[in-house]
Amino acid sequence: MTKKLQGQVAIVTGASSGIGTGVAKALAEAGATVVVNYSSSADKAQAVLTEIRQKGGDGMIIKADVGNEAEVKAMFAETIHQYGTVDILINNAGLQKDAKFHEMTLDQWNHVLNINLTGQFLCAREAIKEFMRRGIVPERSKSAGKIICMSSVHEVIPWAGHANYSASKGGVMMLMKSIAQEYAPLKIRVNSIGPGAIRTPINHAAWQTPESYQSLMKLVPAKRIGEPEDIGGAAVWLASDDSEYVNGITLFVDGGMLLYPGFEDNG
Ligand code: BGC
Repeated sequence: MTKKLQGQVAIVTGASSGIGTGVAKALAEAGATVVVNYSSSADKAQAVLTEIRQKGGDGMIIKADVGNEAEVKAMFAETIHQYGTVDILINNAGLQKDAKFHEMTLDQWNHVLNINLTGQFLCAREAIKEFMRRGIVPERSKSAGKIICMSSVHEVIPWAGHANYSASKGGVMMLMKSIAQEYAPLKIRVNSIGPGAIRTPINHAAWQTPESYQSLMKLVPAKRIGEPEDIGGAAVWLASDDSEYVNGITLFVDGGMLLYPGFEDNG
C-alpha cells in the first residue's frame, strides 16, 4: 500500500525534542522525507534521524534558529537543493520563558515572541514562496503545499504567569487563519494543531511527580497526559489528502482540556 505522504518532503522545526520529535517520526513513517531542524541539540537531532533511518525512512538534519531570517532562508535553500522542493512545513519550534507579568523582562517577552511567532512567520513565508513556485504535483498531493502551525490550547485559554507564551499562541492563531485565507485559492492549506498537556520537556514540572501529575489531571477530562505520538497522528492527517477540504482550523488534541473541566461538579 502506498504510504499517505510517500514522496513528499517535510521540514519539521524544533524536531530534536518533544512534540517535534514525535511529529518528525510520524511523518517519516507515513513516507515523507524529513528535515529534522534543530537550533542547539545536534546530538538529539542526529538521534532522531538515526531512528527514522532505522525504521526505513529518510531525511537530514539542518541547524537553524527559526527566529533568524538568514538561517531560515538557508534552511529552505538547502532543503530545496537536496530534495528539489518542500511539500510540508511543520511550524513547531517553540519555548516558554515564564514570569509573573509585572516581573517579565523585555528579553523574556521578545525571546518567546521571536521564536514562537516571528519564527512561524519566517518559515511560513519561505514555504509559501516554494509552494507557489512549484504548484500542484498531482502524483504527490492534491494541495500545492501544507503548513501546520503548532499552537496550543493557550491560543484560547488565558494563562496567568505566561502572558508572553499565550500572546504568542493567540498570534499564531490569527497568523495561521490569515495565511490560510490568502492562499486557499492556490490550494495551499494552512492549519494548526492545539496540543493540551503533552509529556515533553517544556512542561516537565507539571507531570514529574505523582502530586503534580494528579493536579494536572484536574484539567484533563481524559485523565491521562498526552504523548508526542498523539500529536504525530494528527499532523499526518492534516498533512495528507485525507484532510484536503480542511483549511484554516485549529485541531485541538488535548484530552478535553477545552471542555472547562472545572465545571464538572461546579457552577
Ligand atoms: C504548554 C505546556 C502546558 C500545556 C497545557 C502547552 O502549550 O507549553 O506547558 O502544559 O500547554 O496547559
